[in-house]
Amino acid sequence: MEHTTYITSSIHYPNAKPHMGHALEIVQADFLARYYRLFTQQPVRFQTGLDEHGLKIYRAAEAAGVSARQFTEEQQQHFVSLFQGLGVEADRFIRTSEDDHKAMAQALWKACDAKGDIYRKTYRAWYDIKEEEFLGSADDVTDPSVFGIEERFIELIEEENYFFAASKYTSQVREALASDVYQIVPENRKLEILNFLDQKGMQDVSISRQASKLPWGIPVPGDESQVMYVWFDALTNYLTGAGSVVDGVIVPDQFWPASLHCVGKDISRFHALLWPAMLLSAGVALPKRLLAHGFVLGEGGRKMSKSLGNVVDPTDVLTEYGQSALRWYLLKEIPTQGDGVFTEARISEIYASDLANDYGNLVSRVVTMAKKYADGKVPEGIHGASGNVEQMVVEEKWRDYHAAVDRLEINKALEVAHSLVVFANKRIEELKPWAMAKEGNTEALHELLYELLELIRHVTVMYLPAMPESAARVLEVVYASVDTGDQPWIWGLLKSGEPLPEETPILFPRRQA
Ligand code: MSP
Repeated sequence: MEHTTYITSSIHYPNAKPHMGHALEIVQADFLARYYRLFTQQPVRFQTGLDEHGLKIYRAAEAAGVSARQFTEEQQQHFVSLFQGLGVEADRFIRTSEDDHKAMAQALWKACDAKGDIYRKTYRAWYDIKEEEFLGSADDVTDPSVFGIEERFIELIEEENYFFAASKYTSQVREALASDVYQIVPENRKLEILNFLDQKGMQDVSISRQASKLPWGIPVPGDESQVMYVWFDALTNYLTGAGSVVDGVIVPDQFWPASLHCVGKDISRFHALLWPAMLLSAGVALPKRLLAHGFVLGEGGRKMSKSLGNVVDPTDVLTEYGQSALRWYLLKEIPTQGDGVFTEARISEIYASDLANDYGNLVSRVVTMAKKYADGKVPEGIHGASGNVEQMVVEEKWRDYHAAVDRLEINKALEVAHSLVVFANKRIEELKPWAMAKEGNTEALHELLYELLELIRHVTVMYLPAMPESAARVLEVVYASVDTGDQPWIWGLLKSGEPLPEETPILFPRRQA
């Protein structure tokens, strides 16, 4: 059977412009989608999009003095253009206001209802508008300041709504998580969630609001006086992207179950608990993996905030440093599974060191030397399995690179790739090709240059999912004649005697200090 890969990011609230945290997540998900497209040769689907309903968006639209529909229509542009600037290639940019999504959310609701898992209940609860999350019963907690959340974000909800019997699924969800049938990465997050389950179990949760109070949402099937709770609606987006509704029944396509949901640690519980409970109730297969990434922090390791003056806007960084540098920073400097700091000073350093000096310079130096010392052509080298040092190093690095991506440690995979750049530069310093040229040691010189060109090719393929723009330029310009088939990792595919480009690509031009 054909193996498929379905990667999703979370869907973002378009209540404000996208920030560096959104950029981090979408670039991680895009890296993974590109990686699987490049290395598996099997169908890959990648979905991202916007979470348009709910109280937060409704209020933001009210504040802007426009309808929620008009507001989200205007706001989505900011996300689309940031994603374009970042080189994100999604197969679908879903918006939860779209009709097929509405149909899927309603079909999922009906499936849970048919199972007997949806009931009506009057309750009083504190609600966090910012996180669109219930904080606890107002019968138990009279003073909401105990939640440590700014008062303006807290609302008292007192309604009769529909509830979802999530508690019924506590042990089944626990089993799926503990056995990695639905794997939570990183491990410490998984343990934390299991711990939470053991101590609190899953609570039944309100999954609707009275439309008279919140009209902006998907209507509850059979009861237009209520709209769905935004998380019930939003989580379903993953299924909308990999299935259809036929005669009211959910029919997943070849991409379901999802291979990986890439989301931030703050929303991992919704994905690790509520989402599988909904799917179990509806009789739909569980996703395979959840990556709970960390947070981008500002200067001083603190949350980026206007009042601290440490906010860095991804759009400004794109203009200043370009797509590849921003992607590289987000993917390599910030540990995939932990928090990391983003500062202008650091991206300036990284640009100069990792990119301009180490990689960019390696490419231009080696291509220039090869042209000069080998007649403008790829020199003679060892193509087959010779057991030479470079080849052995490359093979080991490929193993480490793939293993790191498999563990969802993108930063580690890129460190491995970058170590090949460092290795190549070290070979040049140690073996001094210019001295070989002076001594007339042509055979050894050509062999070295061939090896260096091959090393660059390997590293550039490893860089492709991270820096598609820059890496593709190197592959197109320097390696245009190389036919790698679907096995670009094989040593010696570069053909001797092929002409090298007249223009050596300058990948990361020096910046004015
Ligand atoms: N709409 C919900 C997700 C629904 S998914 C079914 C949501 N939206 S959000 O816009 O608030 O956040 C979108 C993603 O960005 C989340 O995965 C969140 O964790 C991530 N980030 C928000 N701020 C972040 C940082 N500062 N750093 C990294 N990612 C963070 O939650």
